Amino acid sequence: MSSIFDSLALADLSLPNRMVMAPLTRSRAGAGNVPTPLMATYYAQRATAGLIISEATQVCPEGQGYICTPGIHSAEQVEGWRLVTDAVHAAGGRICLQLWHVGRISHTSFQPGGAAPVAPSAIAADMKAYTTEGFVPCSMPRALETIELPGLIEAYRQAALNAKAAGFDMVEVHAANGYLLDQFLRDKTNQRTDTYGGTVENRSRLLLEVVDAVASVYPAGRVGCRISPVSGFNDIDDTNPLPLFTHVAQALGGCGLGYLHIIEGQTGGPRDADQRVDFAGLRRSFKQAGGQCTMVNNGYTKAMAEATVSSGDADLVAFGVPFLANPDLVARFKLDAPLNAPDASTFYGGGAKGYTDYPTRTPFHMEGKPAA
Ligand code: PHB
Repeated sequence: MSSIFDSLALADLSLPNRMVMAPLTRSRAGAGNVPTPLMATYYAQRATAGLIISEATQVCPEGQGYICTPGIHSAEQVEGWRLVTDAVHAAGGRICLQLWHVGRISHTSFQPGGAAPVAPSAIAADMKAYTTEGFVPCSMPRALETIELPGLIEAYRQAALNAKAAGFDMVEVHAANGYLLDQFLRDKTNQRTDTYGGTVENRSRLLLEVVDAVASVYPAGRVGCRISPVSGFNDIDDTNPLPLFTHVAQALGGCGLGYLHIIEGQTGGPRDADQRVDFAGLRRSFKQAGGQCTMVNNGYTKAMAEATVSSGDADLVAFGVPFLANPDLVARFKLDAPLNAPDASTFYGGGAKGYTDYPTRTPFHMEGKPAA
């Protein structure tokens, strides 16, 4: 029987425990969407996680939909991320970059030349985008032409190359939460009539081609993928998610992927309001097809995580808000120590307050110096 405090071999990466820091948008990137030294401190403070997954990071300028989210497409961004990976490694940690494209969850003000955001189909999201002008409705997207898709796949491959140059141990392909790859997967947003729309196989094609491209840069065991099979976050749905995500889990397993990361239920919301998908079945499908590790997420407590890992239902558990508010979450769970309360008013944007100033049980020192 394994515990969340036991080590795990994730392909050739050795994780000291099964507690993962989930990807969390914090909107604190600097000018040019470049990661800052403060971000390096924030991630390094959390280096006792078995694995850190970075906040969602746009693979190309068109992939942005929120202010101050970092990118991984410019030389300056690669340099900024190098500060982060160096700081995490110096603190003894491991870090994975989440590769992101928002698709239609964007606004013309983020797009090069003020163009329309891109999406599988020209269907606007009933969502607001947070721009320099405040909250505004997401713009009507334009449908990507079939001949544009190789260029999009290439943007993910180049982003993976940049992640490698920046020193990331792994990359995670973000196919969850109603962003571009999820928009291709689900039929509410994908009404295409080419080979990337229609059948389950066709709607999964772009994700699988992206994963293939990324796995030409990192070994497949160093690539993860995040999905949210029943989440309606960002105005998305599918008429029949079970066969869709069973196919996705099997195909990703067949690529020998390092992990499949599943958001169970509604993102940041109820875990069991939608019973259309059997998550345990998806995890089994992934592993039976050759996938390496499974990761679960959404509202896990220590007790839930222990039960899931000790029963062998999942290998890894990702914690979001608990890691945000408790840099030393692993030590606190080990000791059953009380947790800091998160301050939601500082989740997005701002500086050190609510970011690098959550107290730890013992002082954190970065390279011999007290943390900023
Ligand atoms: C967000 O910025 O709100 C966000 C980003 C990525 C997610 C979910 C939410 O997967």
